[in-house]
Amino acid sequence: MPKNLISIQDLTKEEILHILEVAREFEANREQHFLDGKVVACLFFEPSTRTRLSFEAAVARLGARVIGFPDNRNTSQTKGETLEDTIRIVSNYVDMIVMRHPLAGAADIAAQVASVPVINAGDGANQHPTQTLLDLYAIRKTQGRLDGLDVNMVGDLKYGRAVHSLVEALSHFSPHFVFTAPEELRMPRKYLEALDAKGISYVQTERMETALNDCDILYMTRVQQERFPDREEYEKVKDVYRLTAGMLGGVREGMKILHPLPRVNEIATDVDETPYAWYFKQAGDGMYVRMAIISCLLGYR
Ligand code: CP
Repeated sequence: MPKNLISIQDLTKEEILHILEVAREFEANREQHFLDGKVVACLFFEPSTRTRLSFEAAVARLGARVIGFPDNRNTSQTKGETLEDTIRIVSNYVDMIVMRHPLAGAADIAAQVASVPVINAGDGANQHPTQTLLDLYAIRKTQGRLDGLDVNMVGDLKYGRAVHSLVEALSHFSPHFVFTAPEELRMPRKYLEALDAKGISYVQTERMETALNDCDILYMTRVQQERFPDREEYEKVKDVYRLTAGMLGGVREGMKILHPLPRVNEIATDVDETPYAWYFKQAGDGMYVRMAIISCLLGYR
Protein backbone atom coordinates (compact mmCIF):
# COMPACT_ATOMS: atom_id res chain seq x y z
CA MET A 1 0.00 0.00 0.00
CA PRO A 2 1.19 3.57 -0.60
CA LYS A 3 1.86 5.85 2.37
CA ASN A 4 -0.63 8.47 1.12
CA LEU A 5 -3.86 8.35 -0.88
CA ILE A 6 -3.86 11.56 -2.92
CA SER A 7 -5.09 10.32 -6.29
CA ILE A 8 -6.84 7.07 -7.18
CA GLN A 9 -3.80 6.41 -9.36
CA ASP A 10 -1.77 5.91 -6.17
CA LEU A 11 -3.44 2.47 -5.93
CA THR A 12 -2.87 -0.52 -8.18
CA LYS A 13 -5.81 -2.62 -9.31
CA GLU A 14 -4.83 -5.26 -6.75
CA GLU A 15 -4.69 -2.70 -3.94
CA ILE A 16 -8.13 -1.38 -4.92
CA LEU A 17 -9.56 -4.90 -4.84
CA HIS A 18 -7.88 -5.58 -1.47
CA ILE A 19 -9.46 -2.44 0.07
CA LEU A 20 -12.89 -3.48 -1.25
CA GLU A 21 -12.44 -6.93 0.29
CA VAL A 22 -11.43 -5.47 3.66
CA ALA A 23 -14.47 -3.15 3.50
CA ARG A 24 -16.67 -6.20 3.00
CA GLU A 25 -15.20 -7.73 6.18
CA PHE A 26 -15.89 -4.51 8.08
CA GLU A 27 -19.47 -4.49 6.84
CA ALA A 28 -19.88 -7.99 8.26
CA ASN A 29 -18.29 -6.97 11.59
CA ARG A 30 -17.90 -3.25 12.16
CA GLU A 31 -16.56 -3.25 15.72
CA GLN A 32 -12.86 -3.95 15.22
CA HIS A 33 -10.54 -1.86 17.34
CA PHE A 34 -7.31 -2.13 15.34
CA LEU A 35 -6.43 1.46 16.13
CA ASP A 36 -6.75 1.68 19.91
CA GLY A 37 -4.62 4.59 21.11
CA LYS A 38 -4.20 6.21 17.67
CA VAL A 39 -5.31 9.74 16.76
CA VAL A 40 -6.53 10.83 13.30
CA ALA A 41 -6.94 14.47 12.20
CA CYS A 42 -9.91 15.35 9.97
CA LEU A 43 -9.09 18.77 8.50
CA PHE A 44 -11.93 20.08 6.36
CA PHE A 45 -11.27 23.41 4.66
CA GLU A 46 -14.44 22.99 2.58
CA PRO A 47 -18.00 21.87 3.52
CA SER A 48 -18.82 18.17 3.81
CA THR A 49 -21.47 15.96 5.37
CA ARG A 50 -20.80 12.39 4.22
CA THR A 51 -17.05 12.35 3.81
CA ARG A 52 -16.20 14.01 7.11
CA LEU A 53 -18.77 12.20 9.23
CA SER A 54 -18.15 8.79 7.68
CA PHE A 55 -14.41 9.24 8.20
CA GLU A 56 -14.98 10.30 11.80
CA ALA A 57 -17.32 7.35 12.39
CA ALA A 58 -14.80 5.01 10.75
CA VAL A 59 -12.02 6.26 13.03
CA ALA A 60 -14.22 5.84 16.11
CA ARG A 61 -15.29 2.31 15.11
CA LEU A 62 -11.63 1.37 14.70
CA GLY A 63 -10.97 2.51 18.28
CA ALA A 64 -9.00 5.67 17.45
CA ARG A 65 -9.79 9.29 18.33
CA VAL A 66 -10.49 12.20 16.00
CA ILE A 67 -9.25 15.77 16.22
CA GLY A 68 -9.76 18.46 13.60
CA PHE A 69 -12.16 21.03 12.26
CA PRO A 70 -15.19 21.14 9.92
CA ASP A 71 -14.07 24.50 8.50
CA ASN A 72 -10.97 26.63 8.93
CA ARG A 73 -12.60 29.83 10.24
CA ASN A 74 -11.34 29.22 13.78
CA THR A 75 -7.83 28.15 12.81
CA SER A 76 -4.65 30.22 12.53
CA GLN A 77 -5.05 30.20 8.76
CA THR A 78 -7.23 33.26 9.39
CA LYS A 79 -4.05 34.93 10.76
CA GLY A 80 -2.16 34.06 7.58
CA GLU A 81 -0.61 30.68 8.42
CA THR A 82 0.13 28.64 5.31
CA LEU A 83 -1.30 25.21 4.55
CA GLU A 84 2.20 23.76 4.70
CA ASP A 85 2.85 25.09 8.22
CA THR A 86 -0.57 23.93 9.41
CA ILE A 87 0.14 20.42 8.17
CA ARG A 88 3.67 20.37 9.64
CA ILE A 89 2.23 21.23 13.05
CA VAL A 90 -0.72 18.82 12.96
CA SER A 91 1.66 16.01 11.87
CA ASN A 92 3.22 16.18 15.34
CA TYR A 93 -0.07 15.39 17.05
CA VAL A 94 -1.59 12.57 15.01
CA ASP A 95 -0.99 9.26 13.23
CA MET A 96 -2.85 10.18 10.02
CA ILE A 97 -4.37 13.25 8.34
CA VAL A 98 -7.61 13.24 6.33
CA MET A 99 -7.95 16.53 4.45
CA ARG A 100 -10.44 18.27 2.17
CA HIS A 101 -9.48 21.54 0.51
CA PRO A 102 -10.94 23.71 -2.28
CA LEU A 103 -7.59 24.00 -4.07
CA ALA A 104 -6.76 21.31 -6.66
CA GLY A 105 -3.38 19.90 -5.64
CA ALA A 106 -3.67 20.87 -1.96
CA ALA A 107 -3.59 17.26 -0.76
CA ASP A 108 -0.38 16.69 -2.68
CA ILE A 109 1.16 19.79 -1.08
CA ALA A 110 0.10 18.50 2.34
CA ALA A 111 1.59 15.06 1.69
CA GLN A 112 4.95 16.60 0.78
CA VAL A 113 5.35 18.23 4.21
CA ALA A 114 3.45 15.76 6.43
CA SER A 115 5.37 13.23 8.48
CA VAL A 116 2.27 10.99 8.69
CA PRO A 117 0.03 9.49 5.94
CA VAL A 118 -2.35 11.92 4.21
CA ILE A 119 -5.70 10.93 2.71
CA ASN A 120 -7.25 13.25 0.14
CA ALA A 121 -10.93 13.75 1.03
CA GLY A 122 -11.43 15.92 -2.07
CA ASP A 123 -9.20 18.66 -3.55
CA GLY A 124 -11.07 21.20 -5.63
CA ALA A 125 -12.21 19.86 -8.99
CA ASN A 126 -9.29 17.44 -9.09
CA GLN A 127 -9.70 14.10 -7.27
CA HIS A 128 -11.87 12.36 -4.67
CA PRO A 129 -10.25 8.92 -4.37
CA THR A 130 -12.10 7.70 -1.27
CA GLN A 131 -15.43 8.51 -2.96
CA THR A 132 -14.29 6.38 -5.87
CA LEU A 133 -13.50 3.42 -3.63
CA LEU A 134 -16.98 3.55 -2.14
CA ASP A 135 -18.44 3.94 -5.65
CA LEU A 136 -16.59 0.78 -6.71
CA TYR A 137 -17.87 -0.98 -3.60
CA ALA A 138 -21.44 -0.05 -4.57
CA ILE A 139 -20.90 -1.09 -8.18
CA ARG A 140 -19.51 -4.50 -7.26
CA LYS A 141 -22.20 -5.04 -4.63
CA THR A 142 -25.03 -4.28 -7.05
CA GLN A 143 -23.63 -5.78 -10.28
CA GLY A 144 -21.69 -8.70 -8.80
CA ARG A 145 -18.62 -7.62 -10.77
CA LEU A 146 -16.57 -4.63 -11.85
CA ASP A 147 -15.48 -5.90 -15.27
CA GLY A 148 -17.09 -5.02 -18.57
CA LEU A 149 -19.84 -2.69 -17.37
CA ASP A 150 -21.71 0.02 -19.28
CA VAL A 151 -21.35 3.17 -17.19
CA ASN A 152 -23.21 6.38 -18.02
CA MET A 153 -21.95 9.49 -16.20
CA VAL A 154 -24.35 12.42 -16.26
CA GLY A 155 -24.05 16.08 -15.34
CA ASP A 156 -21.02 18.12 -14.36
CA LEU A 157 -18.14 16.10 -15.74
CA LYS A 158 -15.87 19.14 -15.90
CA TYR A 159 -15.76 20.16 -12.25
CA GLY A 160 -16.91 16.88 -10.65
CA ARG A 161 -13.88 15.43 -8.88
CA ALA A 162 -15.77 12.21 -8.11
CA VAL A 163 -16.18 11.36 -11.81
CA HIS A 164 -12.54 12.18 -12.53
CA SER A 165 -11.31 9.64 -9.98
CA LEU A 166 -13.96 7.09 -10.95
CA VAL A 167 -13.10 7.16 -14.66
CA GLU A 168 -9.47 6.43 -13.81
CA ALA A 169 -10.35 3.60 -11.41
CA LEU A 170 -12.85 1.92 -13.73
CA SER A 171 -10.24 1.97 -16.48
CA HIS A 172 -8.75 -1.12 -14.80
CA PHE A 173 -11.97 -3.02 -15.52
CA SER A 174 -12.66 -2.70 -19.29
CA PRO A 175 -15.74 -0.46 -19.10
CA HIS A 176 -17.72 1.22 -21.84
CA PHE A 177 -18.47 4.82 -20.89
CA VAL A 178 -21.15 7.25 -21.94
CA PHE A 179 -20.40 10.83 -20.87
CA THR A 180 -23.61 12.83 -20.79
CA ALA A 181 -22.97 16.53 -20.31
CA PRO A 182 -23.67 19.90 -21.93
CA GLU A 183 -20.78 21.24 -23.93
CA GLU A 184 -19.72 23.57 -21.08
CA LEU A 185 -19.39 20.69 -18.61
CA ARG A 186 -17.74 17.97 -20.69
CA MET A 187 -15.19 15.55 -19.31
CA PRO A 188 -11.78 17.28 -19.45
CA ARG A 189 -9.58 16.32 -22.36
CA LYS A 190 -6.83 14.79 -20.22
CA TYR A 191 -9.19 12.05 -18.98
CA LEU A 192 -10.42 11.33 -22.52
CA GLU A 193 -6.84 11.14 -23.80
CA ALA A 194 -5.99 8.66 -21.05
CA LEU A 195 -8.95 6.50 -22.14
CA ASP A 196 -7.83 6.73 -25.78
CA ALA A 197 -4.34 5.62 -24.79
CA LYS A 198 -5.77 2.56 -23.03
CA GLY A 199 -8.19 1.72 -25.86
CA ILE A 200 -11.25 2.18 -23.64
CA SER A 201 -14.41 3.01 -25.56
CA TYR A 202 -16.61 6.00 -24.77
CA VAL A 203 -19.18 8.23 -26.40
CA GLN A 204 -20.11 11.80 -25.51
CA THR A 205 -23.67 13.11 -25.71
CA GLU A 206 -25.69 16.06 -24.48
CA ARG A 207 -28.97 14.12 -24.28
CA MET A 208 -29.76 12.07 -21.18
CA GLU A 209 -32.13 9.87 -23.22
CA THR A 210 -29.28 8.68 -25.49
CA ALA A 211 -28.04 5.89 -23.21
CA LEU A 212 -30.49 5.74 -20.33
CA ASN A 213 -31.75 2.29 -21.37
CA ASP A 214 -28.33 0.85 -22.18
CA CYS A 215 -26.34 1.14 -18.98
CA ASP A 216 -25.62 -0.94 -15.88
CA ILE A 217 -24.67 2.11 -13.80
CA LEU A 218 -26.19 5.56 -14.16
CA TYR A 219 -23.83 7.87 -12.27
CA MET A 220 -25.65 11.16 -11.69
CA THR A 221 -23.79 14.26 -10.50
CA ARG A 222 -24.61 17.70 -9.15
CA VAL A 223 -23.59 20.79 -11.10
CA GLN A 224 -20.78 22.09 -8.87
CA GLN A 225 -21.92 25.64 -8.20
CA GLU A 226 -18.91 26.41 -5.99
CA ARG A 227 -16.41 25.76 -8.81
CA PHE A 228 -17.88 28.17 -11.39
CA PRO A 229 -15.85 31.35 -11.86
CA ASP A 230 -18.99 33.10 -13.15
CA ARG A 231 -22.46 32.90 -11.52
CA GLU A 232 -24.19 33.51 -14.88
CA GLU A 233 -22.49 30.46 -16.38
CA TYR A 234 -23.78 28.35 -13.48
CA GLU A 235 -27.35 29.65 -13.91
CA LYS A 236 -27.30 28.58 -17.59
CA VAL A 237 -26.56 24.91 -16.83
CA LYS A 238 -27.67 24.33 -13.23
CA ASP A 239 -30.86 22.42 -14.10
CA VAL A 240 -29.71 20.87 -17.35
CA TYR A 241 -30.64 17.32 -16.29
CA ARG A 242 -33.41 16.08 -14.02
CA LEU A 243 -34.03 12.35 -13.68
CA THR A 244 -37.60 11.36 -12.76
CA ALA A 245 -39.18 7.97 -12.06
CA GLY A 246 -41.20 8.29 -15.27
CA MET A 247 -38.02 8.17 -17.34
CA LEU A 248 -36.99 4.73 -16.03
CA GLY A 249 -39.58 2.55 -17.82
CA GLY A 250 -37.11 1.03 -20.32
CA VAL A 251 -33.93 0.68 -18.28
CA ARG A 252 -32.05 -2.59 -17.71
CA GLU A 253 -33.49 -4.69 -14.90
CA GLY A 254 -30.35 -4.61 -12.71
CA MET A 255 -29.41 -1.02 -13.48
CA LYS A 256 -28.52 1.07 -10.45
CA ILE A 257 -28.41 4.82 -10.03
CA LEU A 258 -25.46 6.15 -8.06
CA HIS A 259 -24.69 9.72 -7.01
CA PRO A 260 -21.85 10.97 -4.79
CA LEU A 261 -24.39 13.31 -3.15
CA PRO A 262 -25.47 15.87 -2.13
CA ARG A 263 -28.14 16.04 -4.81
CA VAL A 264 -29.91 19.26 -5.64
CA ASN A 265 -32.47 18.98 -8.48
CA GLU A 266 -30.89 16.34 -10.71
CA ILE A 267 -32.72 13.37 -9.18
CA ALA A 268 -36.42 13.85 -8.36
CA THR A 269 -37.47 12.36 -5.03
CA ASP A 270 -39.87 9.96 -6.78
CA VAL A 271 -36.79 8.07 -8.02
CA ASP A 272 -35.87 7.24 -4.41
CA GLU A 273 -38.62 4.62 -4.17
CA THR A 274 -37.71 2.82 -7.39
CA PRO A 275 -35.62 -0.38 -7.35
CA TYR A 276 -32.92 1.48 -9.30
CA ALA A 277 -32.00 4.01 -6.60
CA TRP A 278 -28.83 3.02 -4.72
CA TYR A 279 -27.32 6.40 -3.76
CA PHE A 280 -28.29 6.32 -0.10
CA LYS A 281 -26.97 2.77 0.37
CA GLN A 282 -23.85 3.82 -1.56
CA ALA A 283 -23.17 6.63 0.93
CA GLY A 284 -24.03 4.43 3.93
CA ASP A 285 -21.45 1.82 2.99
CA GLY A 286 -18.87 4.59 2.70
CA MET A 287 -18.06 4.18 6.38
CA TYR A 288 -16.90 0.56 5.87
CA VAL A 289 -14.83 1.56 2.87
CA ARG A 290 -13.18 4.36 4.86
CA MET A 291 -12.49 1.95 7.74
CA ALA A 292 -10.75 -0.24 5.18
CA ILE A 293 -8.76 2.63 3.64
CA ILE A 294 -7.48 3.80 7.04
CA SER A 295 -6.59 0.26 8.17
CA CYS A 296 -4.81 -0.62 4.93
CA LEU A 297 -2.80 2.62 4.71
CA LEU A 298 -1.68 2.25 8.33
CA GLY A 299 -0.59 -1.32 7.61
CA TYR A 300 -3.13 -3.11 9.79
CA ARG A 301 -4.76 -5.07 6.93
N1 CP B 1 -19.80 12.87 -1.71
C1 CP B 1 -19.28 13.79 -0.87
O1 CP B 1 -18.09 14.12 -0.93
O2 CP B 1 -20.18 14.33 0.00
P1 CP B 1 -19.85 15.44 1.07
O3 CP B 1 -19.48 16.70 0.31
O4 CP B 1 -21.09 15.62 1.89
O5 CP B 1 -18.70 14.97 1.89
